[in-house]
Amino acid sequence: MTESAHLSGTGMPAEGVHDPDADLAPVPAVESGADARATTPVAGAPTLELRGVHVIHKTRTGGLFKPGTVHAVNDVDFQVSRGETVGIVGESGCGKSTLARVLVGLQQPTRGDVLFRGRPLGYDANSRRELGRAVSVVFQDPATALNPRMIVREQLIDPLKVHGIGTEDEREDRVERLLGLVGLPLSALDVLPRQISGGQRQRVAIARALALEPDIIVADEPTSALDVSVRAQVLNLLTDLKDELNLGMVFISHDISTVRHVSDRMAVMFAGQIVETGPADELFANPSHSYTRTLLSAVPSLL
Ligand SMILES: Nc1ncnc2c1ncn2[C@@H]1O[C@H](COP(=O)(O)OP(=O)(O)OP(=O)(O)O)[C@@H](O)[C@H]1O
Ligand SMILES: [Mg+2]
Repeated sequence: MTESAHLSGTGMPAEGVHDPDADLAPVPAVESGADARATTPVAGAPTLELRGVHVIHKTRTGGLFKPGTVHAVNDVDFQVSRGETVGIVGESGCGKSTLARVLVGLQQPTRGDVLFRGRPLGYDANSRRELGRAVSVVFQDPATALNPRMIVREQLIDPLKVHGIGTEDEREDRVERLLGLVGLPLSALDVLPRQISGGQRQRVAIARALALEPDIIVADEPTSALDVSVRAQVLNLLTDLKDELNLGMVFISHDISTVRHVSDRMAVMFAGQIVETGPADELFANPSHSYTRTLLSAVPSLL
C-alpha cells in the first residue's frame, strides 16, 4: 500500500488517473471560484449515477499488436443516494468489482457518464478528493485497505489529516467515537492490524471508511474473506450503521440471499450487464430473468 493510496481517501490507488503531486497538495480551506461552481450539487440528483457505462479492460492475452480485451461492464445504468442500500449480485467475473471501482472513481469508464451529485465526475485531484470524502469503499480483504505498519489509531486519523478535518483533539475524539460505532474497545487503538482478528480488522476498515462521514459506502464482498462465524456480525454492523447514519450503501456479493438480506433495491449482473433490477423482495419473490432464477436456485447460502 503506497502513501498516495491512503491519501486518495478511498484506500486504493486510482487506475490511469494517478497524480502523485496533486495528491499531496494542501486542502483548500474555502473552495472558491470555478471549483465551487463546478461542484455545486444539482437539487434532487442522486449522489452517484452511471449512464450507459462501459469498461473494456485490456488483457495480457492476444497478440503483441492486438491485445485481447474484456468487456467487463457493458452499458450499465445505476443510481444510489443516501438512505438506501442497493445490492449488486452476480457470479465471479461478471464485472461487479469493476463497477465498484467506477463508482468510487478508481476506474474511468471507457464510455458512458459518471455523475456525482448530478454533475459529470472529474478525475483531477480536487474532484477525487471531493468524491473521496463523500463516497468510501470497503473491500473484501481488510488487509489491502489497512497499512500493516500503522497502528489502528493512525489508520483512522490519517484520512482526517489528509482532508484537514478538525484539531488534533477533535480528531482523537472522532477516532474514539468511530471505534465505538464499529463495536471495538478503545484498547484496539494501539495495535497493528495483524494483532487483531480478521473480523476486527474489517471493523477497523469500516471505521476508516466512515471517518469522513461519507454519504455512500461501496462495500465489495465485505464479508466474503471472513470466517463464517463473524460474517453475520459484520453484515449486521453494516446494516445498523446504514440505518443509524442514514448512509447510502452499494452492497456487492455473489450471494443473492446475503444481498437480499441487506438491500432495498437489487441489481442482478451477468456478463457485464445489469439484467434485472427492482425492489429486493419483489425480485426475490418474482424473478423475471432466467439468470436470476438460476441464482435463486442456488439458495440456501452460508450467509
Ligand atoms: N485490471 C484488469 N485488467 C484486465 N482484466 C480485468 C481487470 N479487472 C478485471 N478484469 C476482468 O474483467 C472481468 C470482470 O472482473 P471483476 O473483477 O469486475 O469481476 P467480479 O464480478 O468482481 O468477480 P469476483 O466475484 O470474482 O470478484 C473479468 O473477466 C476480469 O478478468
Ligand atoms: Mg470482485
